[in-house]
Amino acid sequence: MNAKKIAAERAVDYIKDGMIVGLGTGSTAYWAIEKIGAKVREGLNIKAVATSLRSEEQARKLGIKLIPFSEIDKIDITIDGADEVDQDLNLIKGGGGALLREKIVAAASRQLIIVVDESKMVDKLGAFPLPVEMVKFGYEITVRKLQSLGCEPVLRKVDNDTYITDNGNFIVDCHFKRIDNPSELHNKINMIPGVVDNGLFINMAAKVIIGYNNGDIKELI
Ligand code: A5P
Repeated sequence: MNAKKIAAERAVDYIKDGMIVGLGTGSTAYWAIEKIGAKVREGLNIKAVATSLRSEEQARKLGIKLIPFSEIDKIDITIDGADEVDQDLNLIKGGGGALLREKIVAAASRQLIIVVDESKMVDKLGAFPLPVEMVKFGYEITVRKLQSLGCEPVLRKVDNDTYITDNGNFIVDCHFKRIDNPSELHNKINMIPGVVDNGLFINMAAKVIIGYNNGDIKELI
């Protein structure tokens, strides 16, 4: 059983005719976008905003109507994945590199539904390295400041090239191992000049849908 797929498809049940929908990024959100595409072909009438060029491309191919983010006031529902989810529904996101647009879209959404497989559920966040998006200028100094918060920072690369986000920035993956106070850490990181945003999503998820390998689905609110 594909646990990511069943969680993602369950989330799509919450989308109703006429809604504006935020499309997440990653291998779980992928299945939600596929399902939305199938429903659009069956007559579902929605408009969508994408959190990455990748998701935008997928949606376009499926015939999902896309509108520029600047043209809307509020998004009704956003469906997105996560790299880690704790018991308070705080998240680490950004493994796929789209954390900034994901956070902007999530913050504009009435409801953020997170879809994950069971492997993403944790007691404490931090085993997954926290992605931090930063501007290129002076990034060596920005990285040293991050390090002083108690992590081992690693500049993200793809093959041998430095990874560049859809916004033209770098990502540094910060190995904290365990984050005891996500909200405090979120604020400390975002206070560092040069940091654009980090992958901690605090109190943003309205619902988390977990898919299990045995086919079960659980919803946390
Ligand atoms: C993209 O930047 C991320 O926030 C993804 O939502 C997250 O990495 C989860 O990805 P998967 O669904 O591929 O595990």
